[in-house]
Amino acid sequence: MAERLVTLLSAEQIGERVRELGQKITKDYQDRFLVLVIVLKGSFVFGADLARAIDLRDCRIDFLGTRSYGEGTSSSGVVQITHDLSRPIDGQDVLIVEDIVDTGLTIAHLLDLLRTRKPRSVRICSLLHKPARAKVEVKIDYLGFTIEDRFVVGYGLDFAERFRNLPFIGVVECDGTR
Ligand code: IMP
Repeated sequence: MAERLVTLLSAEQIGERVRELGQKITKDYQDRFLVLVIVLKGSFVFGADLARAIDLRDCRIDFLGTRSYGEGTSSSGVVQITHDLSRPIDGQDVLIVEDIVDTGLTIAHLLDLLRTRKPRSVRICSLLHKPARAKVEVKIDYLGFTIEDRFVVGYGLDFAERFRNLPFIGVVECDGTR
């Protein structure tokens, strides 16, 4: 099937926004010990860039593996944890790092899950938000870009496990996709 990738956000645009988010987070967590929880797999690129844009010595990084999509493009609403945090987070300031908030079901589930572990605070940082598809309301404390209802790939985001390695975010145009 013939595919064409149309750039939605260039590597430069993403890089600039990630730097801005990093500066804001650095300021807000100045006197705190920050725990960055990077949600796998989609946020591995964003998480790595964001972590390096945060200028804090008191910061640790952990990973949470989730699976909410099969090979398709719409959320099942069922979130499976494929890899849990390596350490407790009770009494700590947690920032969840997500690639995209689409229906909001995944992040709402993760918030509920992490809150049961009694952190001091939990906030959300998401690179992308697709408000048109929201099924639950979620407050995104740090947001990169609001985008339209298009299925996007690249910069960690996949379609059936492909395209995660693209340095930009694009839309796949081919017959048979929405
Ligand atoms: P939600 O539960 O519907 O908010 O979906 C969250 C997860 O679905 C994200 O963390 C992504 O892994 C995936 N997802 C949602 N929209 C897209 C998209 O446009 N491209 C690639 N993955 C997406």
